[in-house]
Order: sequence, then C-alpha cells, then structure tokens
Amino acid sequence: MRILVTGGAGFIGSHLIDRLMAQGDEVICLDNFFTGRKHNILKWLDNPYFELIRHDITEPIKLEVDQIYHLACPASPIHYQYNPVKTIKTNVMGTLYMLGLAKRVKARFLLASTSEVYGDPEVHPQSEEYRGNVNPIGPRSCYDEGKRVAETLAFDYHLQNNVEIRVARIFNTYGPRMLENDGRVVSNFVVQALKGQPLTVYGDGSQTRSFCYVADLVEGLIRLMNGEHTGPINLGNPDEYTILQLAQAVQNRVNPDAEIIFKPLPQDDPKRRQPDITKAKTLLDWQPTIPLAEGLKLTIEDFRDRVTSPEGHHLASV
Ligand SMILES: NC(=O)c1ccc[n+]([C@@H]2O[C@H](COP(=O)([O-])OP(=O)(O)OC[C@H]3O[C@@H](n4cnc5c(N)ncnc54)[C@H](O)[C@@H]3O)[C@@H](O)[C@H]2O)c1
Repeated sequence: MRILVTGGAGFIGSHLIDRLMAQGDEVICLDNFFTGRKHNILKWLDNPYFELIRHDITEPIKLEVDQIYHLACPASPIHYQYNPVKTIKTNVMGTLYMLGLAKRVKARFLLASTSEVYGDPEVHPQSEEYRGNVNPIGPRSCYDEGKRVAETLAFDYHLQNNVEIRVARIFNTYGPRMLENDGRVVSNFVVQALKGQPLTVYGDGSQTRSFCYVADLVEGLIRLMNGEHTGPINLGNPDEYTILQLAQAVQNRVNPDAEIIFKPLPQDDPKRRQPDITKAKTLLDWQPTIPLAEGLKLTIEDFRDRVTSPEGHHLASV
C-alpha cells in the first residue's frame, strides 16, 4: 500500500511513519517543517520505500496514493497562535486540497482532529455526540474552529462525493520527539525539571488532563484507518490526572528537589478534559496499554538526550 502522511516529520506523524515502514508499506511524508524535524525521519531517508516531499499543504499537490493520514497542522498553542491566519489556512485549505486529492485518486482519508473541538466542555467525560463549547473568536479559535471545519469538510466530501473518510478526535498525546519549546504541559515539566528550573503550574493545578502515550495513539489511528467506521472516534487515555499530580510525577522521576511554582491560568484554558473511549473500545477493539509512569520514563529519557547533551541539542534543531 502507498500511504501519504501529511505532517509526517512531526511528533505523532513520525511515530506513525515508523510503524507503517515497519509493517512494509510504502510511505510518502509531506511536511513544510514548520514544527516538524528532519531528524525525526532521518532513519528512513535512504530507504527506497520512503519519500520525503517538502511542501506546504495550503498549496495543491498531485500524488498517487491509497491512503492519506492527514496530520499536518501545528498542534501546540505556541505554534498555532504564532500565525493564526496560517493555522486556519492549513486546516481549511490544506484539508480541502487533501480531500480533493483523496477524491481524485480514490484514497481513504483519515483526519487527525482533536478533543479541542469540544472546547471548554460542560459534560464529562466527552463522548463523540457532545457538540462542544467553543469560543469562535478567542486565541484558540484558529485551531479549534479550524479543526471543526476540517471535520465538516471531511463529512461533506464523504456524503457528496463518496470519499472514504475516518475522523479521529485525538486527546493530549505525549512521548519522545515532542518539541522542547512547545509549551505543552508534559514537555514543559520535563524540560524544566531536567534543567533544574522550577516547574510552572498554571492556576492551582486542580484542572485535569488525560495523557495518551504516542505508541498507543498510533495503534488507534492505524485501527481506525483500516476499520469500517468513519467516526468521529475519540482516541485518548481516559486516566485523568490533575496538572499538579503530573508535575509531582515528573518531579519525583527527574529531580525530587525541583520547586513547583504557580502562575495565572491563560484565557479559555479548559478545566477538565477526559475522553469517553467507549466507541474506540467497542468499534476498534482499542484502548491504551501504556501507563503514565512508563510513558513518562520513555519521554524523559528522550528529552534527557536532547536537553542535557550538546550533541542532542544540535540534532533536535535539524
Ligand atoms: N499532540 C497532541 O496531543 C494532539 C492532540 C490532538 C490532535 N493532534 C493533531 O495531530 C496532528 C499532529 O500533531 P503533532 O502533535 O504531531 O504536532 P506537530 O506540530 O509535531 O506536527 C505537525 C506537523 O505538520 C507540519 N505542518 C504544519 N503546517 C503545515 C503545512 N501548512 N503544510 C505542511 N506541513 C505542515 C509540521 O511541520 C509538523 O511536522 C495535528 O493535526 C494535531 O492537530 C495532536
């Protein structure tokens, strides 16, 4: 099978490519390297079944492929808020072009949507039926509303043009290769602890999140793509932790003497976020298997190489 992964040089995309290459597929990685790194896919560059295309998905492209995993979009607030108009363009025009491509070559199309489509939810946990509580004009809207439009586009191409679609609503995912400076809570805490800086908790730390290890998430994406259900299907780890608990877990593992400090909560920061994964369990026979303690250990090892060794630091910027 020839598989296109947009955003393939990024965090989740590169782990997905590792799995697809290992199972013998032919992979085309398409990326503009905004938040992706060549280093993430370095080991495949000489492989004849792997192709890398530097391309911005806000421009059209013609390719012959059987499946499209559409992941291209900056995922952390620091990066998607850097240029909000570009983020909207990536979600709207980029998804439109990729769906057009899927239609033309009859490829199956999987959209990496997000739990952010639920906004600041009023129901817990969030099932796929919940329609969300999203601010259309706030600082997170370029991402949240962009993904909501991307979902609409996917379903309209499906209903109107019979494009085979799959929609994954991905919840917080963490693991090796997350960027050190992306402001996401796991990477923030790990980098701060490794550098001997205080761990910054926003608010009082009682807000909760669920954290899915990237290998579990990739397994869910592959099952969704190759299963029979369009979705949307939530993919995430339902184990809920307060931000303070997470800070303490990192503190214990890296540096028990690290200080924890508190800062004001940013605007529109959801108070709780937890997936209802009943659908993924019943329809895809999928659920996360890697507990937070184990996933954190693997993540910290990867960050330790990059943050503390000069050579690792050099590689991280490629
Ligand atoms: N990581 C999470 O917790 C999470 C949660 C929910 C949804 N998602 C979704 O999963 C996908 C991957 O997220 P990630 O965490 O790997 O983020 P990431 O930033 O590491 O990866 C995104 C990739 O897309 C590329 N990209 C961005 N804009 C592009 C453009 N216009 N043209 C071509 N390439 C472009 C980036 O260079 C990068 O390689 C995203 O669509 C994101 O919205 C991630």
